[in-house]
Amino acid sequence: MKLFIDTAIVDEIREVNDMGVICGVTTNPSLIAKSGRKFEDVVKEITTIVDGPISAEVTAKDPDEMVEQAKPLAAIHPNIIIKIPFNKEGLMACKKMTALGIKTNVTLIFSAAQALLAAKAGATYVSPFLGRLDDIGRDGMMLIEEIVDIFDADPTINTEIIAASIRNPIHVIDAARVGCDIATVPYKVIMQMLNHPLTTSGIAQFDKDWATVPKN
Ligand code: G3P
Repeated sequence: MKLFIDTAIVDEIREVNDMGVICGVTTNPSLIAKSGRKFEDVVKEITTIVDGPISAEVTAKDPDEMVEQAKPLAAIHPNIIIKIPFNKEGLMACKKMTALGIKTNVTLIFSAAQALLAAKAGATYVSPFLGRLDDIGRDGMMLIEEIVDIFDADPTINTEIIAASIRNPIHVIDAARVGCDIATVPYKVIMQMLNHPLTTSGIAQFDKDWATVPKN
């Protein structure tokens, strides 16, 4: 399973990219707002940091307007993926963008039926939101599993699944175990994935013992 980072904060992207663990970035309007910067400026800067898919979301409501909004974004860099909110108009926009050779990530997926429709409309990626399902007392991971099974059973589907709305390291590990293609992980969760108390105490013990080794 590939790991992307789910953020629009370039310092976070740079740090995690330098660790060698991510190969893509996802943003959304809320994350862009949190960065406090202009949308295009952030997206352009991300393309100079990460050499992999970078999702930038359109906000227009009409399919043709979504396509018009997508064109200048897609022109920024070949790695740009246009993120489209799932609904009827979004599917129409997805079909049009696919015909134009623009790669898409259909987002805000909360059911296997939605994922299947997005795949049929030509989506390059679908983003089921597992944390937000858990938040309302549903099993988000079960949705990921269902979509994996459906896509695996249909040789005409090449759409990749991005487990999104990740809240903790267990989400990442479980997504990998059920065969999800990608997990897009917030910076905070990547930092949590680094930690184990036995690693910390192990390093401290090695340092302590090393200090006792004669150096000359
Ligand atoms: O990028 C979309 C998704 O990952 C958002 O997650 O935490 O706002 O539910 P969250």
